[in-house]
Amino acid sequence: MITVYSLPSQVQPEVLKDSAAVVIDVLRATTVITCAVHSGIKEFIPVLDITEALRLKSLFPEGSVILGGERSGLPIDGFDFGNSPQDYTPQRVAGKTLIITTTNGTAAIHAAKEARKVILAAFVNADAAVKKLANEDRITIICSGTCGLETEEDMLLAGCIVDRLTSGIYPSQSKYSGLNETAERVRRLWKNSNTNGVTELTALLRRSTGGKNLLRIGLAADIAAAAQIDTMETVAEFRLSR
Ligand code: MLT
Repeated sequence: MITVYSLPSQVQPEVLKDSAAVVIDVLRATTVITCAVHSGIKEFIPVLDITEALRLKSLFPEGSVILGGERSGLPIDGFDFGNSPQDYTPQRVAGKTLIITTTNGTAAIHAAKEARKVILAAFVNADAAVKKLANEDRITIICSGTCGLETEEDMLLAGCIVDRLTSGIYPSQSKYSGLNETAERVRRLWKNSNTNGVTELTALLRRSTGGKNLLRIGLAADIAAAAQIDTMETVAEFRLSR
């Protein structure tokens, strides 16, 4: 069974329990965390607010933590990095603990925490995320949206994942015959987009809600970075540790 929620507020705890959850915030939280893990961070801790991020940092040895995230799309005062995937290079982040807080994405990760397992998906690791899910019987995909509203960029990736899981690429796909209505809807959205490659995906993301917000604040490069489909094998997994 694959259940897609277009917003974290729709998540039903009884569906989440016993399932593998996939959290999506294409622009940009799950893309950024995937890039940071790919660049060799030791761990990531998503937190809901700035005060909590600063408090947690104070518990770690000096120099071992980087603070990242955004408010209104922009870097947070006193933080090391904003929410741009290209900031998180191996030279800057390898071996560090990333404490991150963003407007919607980090809250969506917390909304998934009752699941048996929580992974993060972005276009950059879409194929790797699908491979991780190929043996799961119950999958719950949670889109972050923006401030309580559905966003096309997250729905498109959810559709891409559902489509790949059900298209017969993987031998175990027959067990995914059960899709909720939103899963059917996002699969159609993805198929109808006829997206084939980075250039088309970049154009599509630029027209999405999150894309328009980023263009408004001059962060077009972040959209292009998020559109690098299937370029990373890294799949970040969220574990409650503190
Ligand atoms: C979010 O969590 O809302 C996003 O990551 C927003 C952004 O990157 O600007």
